[in-house]
Amino acid sequence: MEKIDQNKVPKRKFYTGEEIPAVGLGTFGSDKYGPEAISEAVYGAIKFGYRLIDCAAVYQNEAQIGQVLKRLFDEGVVERKDLFITSKVWNDMHEKVGESCRQSLKDLGLETIDLFFVHWPFPNYHAPGCSGDSRNPDSRPFSVEEFMKTWRQCEELVDQGLVRYIGMSNMTVPKLEAVLPLCRIKPAALEMELHPSFQQPKLFDYAVKHDILPIGYCPLGSPSRPERDRTAEDVADSELPSVAAAAKAHGVHPANICLKWAAQRGQVPIPFSVKEPQYQSNLTCVTEDPLTAEEMEAITRDDRNCRLIKGQVFLWEGAHGWEALWDLDGRITEKE
Ligand SMILES: NC(=O)c1ccc[n+]([C@@H]2O[C@H](COP(=O)([O-])OP(=O)(O)OC[C@H]3O[C@@H](n4cnc5c(N)ncnc54)[C@H](OP(=O)(O)O)[C@@H]3O)[C@@H](O)[C@H]2O)c1
Repeated sequence: MEKIDQNKVPKRKFYTGEEIPAVGLGTFGSDKYGPEAISEAVYGAIKFGYRLIDCAAVYQNEAQIGQVLKRLFDEGVVERKDLFITSKVWNDMHEKVGESCRQSLKDLGLETIDLFFVHWPFPNYHAPGCSGDSRNPDSRPFSVEEFMKTWRQCEELVDQGLVRYIGMSNMTVPKLEAVLPLCRIKPAALEMELHPSFQQPKLFDYAVKHDILPIGYCPLGSPSRPERDRTAEDVADSELPSVAAAAKAHGVHPANICLKWAAQRGQVPIPFSVKEPQYQSNLTCVTEDPLTAEEMEAITRDDRNCRLIKGQVFLWEGAHGWEALWDLDGRITEKE
């Protein structure tokens, strides 16, 4: 099988100076792909040269991914130290972070997770696959106190050597302003939605300024996302004029342009695919034929502020709309 030259894959740095690859593989099947297809893609992708794999307990496939990791170690394709594996604590385990982490470690068959995220910054639970307008009566707005209780448990996991770095996901600048001064161990990374039509410049710049690595999810605009995450106003990244023009000029799929843009901007995109030609091109594309400064600027100008993962299933009763989750007026939203 063809393999990528690791030296050609661009790298990004954590605040400690440790490097990770500038592109990783996502593992959320969007209700469309099951654990077997996804774990086989992880196997093929690591054989091809991926070293960063983005996992989560709620994706319900860590056990199958663990089996292919074992296969790869047994076959001598990679050693544990060559890989950078993330996982995340789901909303219903915020009071039992240690238990969640230990289960992920067991499922993945690992002794340590490299980067462990708080997946969403509130304990609002929804059943997998529930409809977009369902509300859990126990759901509530973000609380600094509650979040810090969860974060303290993440810090303990670092102390215990079960995880190497900890990170936050789906945060906003007001929430970060409130919690960062309280952290004993700072987040190494911020996982956030980032693609050409949703560039989040303020949050991105905030993360970079605080030496927190932005990891970009839905880097291709998640064309296979579940129905509950679709609205009529959504923009397809592949159809943005700047992305389409660059795809034509470089003779590649618009998905590859989204990834070149992401890697050159400085975030770490984690595209998902179970299809070999797709996941291979998603890594290869950042090793060759970069976008020009003009193409980068044209994509920057094409930002549509189009959030795809609105998170409406995490809303509390009485909340007016998904915007309440994202502190759009610059303050942490409280219960109306
Ligand atoms: N922290 C969080 O809250 C959070 C939220 C969402 C996602 N994530 C992470 O981010 C990862 C990526 O996000 P995502 O899976 O939603 O979206 P994505 O990576 O933007 O889109 C994935 C889809 O794009 C298509 N695709 C992939 N490579 C392609 C290529 N080279 N050419 C053409 N089409 C291509 C595939 O569609 P087809 O299968 O139809 O071909 C694939 O299913 C997830 O898997 C997960 O690990 C994290």
